[in-house]
Amino acid sequence: MDIRVLRPSDIPHVQQTNITNLPENYFCKYYLYHALSWPQLSYVAVDVSRPKKTPYDAPKIVGYVLAKMEEDPADGVQHGHITSLSVMRTHRRLGLAEKLMRQSQRAMFETYGAVYVSLHVRVSNIAALALYRDTLGFKVGDTEAKYYADGEDAFSMRMDLDYLRNEALDEESEEEDTVGKDEGGEVGSAGKAGDGVDGPKKKEKKRKVRVGRQLGVGELVERNESSKPTLTNGTA
Ligand SMILES: CC(C)(COP(=O)(O)OP(=O)(O)OC[C@H]1O[C@@H](n2cnc3c(N)ncnc32)[C@H](O)[C@@H]1OP(=O)(O)O)[C@@H](O)C(=O)NCCC(=O)NCCS
Repeated sequence: MDIRVLRPSDIPHVQQTNITNLPENYFCKYYLYHALSWPQLSYVAVDVSRPKKTPYDAPKIVGYVLAKMEEDPADGVQHGHITSLSVMRTHRRLGLAEKLMRQSQRAMFETYGAVYVSLHVRVSNIAALALYRDTLGFKVGDTEAKYYADGEDAFSMRMDLDYLRNEALDEESEEEDTVGKDEGGEVGSAGKAGDGVDGPKKKEKKRKVRVGRQLGVGELVERNESSKPTLTNGTA
């Protein structure tokens, strides 16, 4: 089984999986909106056990998670949201949903600095509730009356992504501890620090940088190319 990022070409197959497993279905453009706006957050589980006969064979998608960032969060806190999750009956209880969720959560944190992730679940959905609450550690919040089209209530759930922040900090301090440690004893003048030959390496300061649409489109500033000084040889 292969878990990888959702590609636009997967959408018809993901849509098929969604229709098979859930009553909440979406237009193709809604999947595309997710895939193009937050390309790092949605994942598919592909059954690769049966090799393709031709390069044109469709991938066998047996599960997916469709996720996004909340564009205008009411609480002002940057957070992700799970729009839809499902796994085909034939492939359940293999840990696929758990893996899909964890991948998406990590991408929300690493790419967009999400502080938490939220979702809605039917109050009667025992399997999903067990997955979210007991396996992943989501907390049950408010009950939203008649949230679904058929009148069923939803639990609003959320999970803080602090554990990922702590993991990143731990990794950073581990890196700082290891970089710069002497790996051997001094051997004549060749072992002296700073001589560039087998000696202890200089401690490098590592800095984490954020990538992706962290600042949102509104923050992008167009550069004024016209004010560039003209080069003497006439080339731009
Ligand atoms: C909910 C769903 C996505 C779970 O997918 P899955 O791949 O089978 O889940 P996992 O194998 O990752 O299960 C992880 C844990 O979740 C819990 N869980 C999953 N299915 C469960 C079930 N039927 N009953 C009780 N607990 C269940 C278990 O704690 C499980 O761990 P375990 O197998 O070690 O006991 C799947 O049942 C599904 O697609 N259901 C229909 C669509 C749906 O309800 N989507 C959620 C909408 S909010």
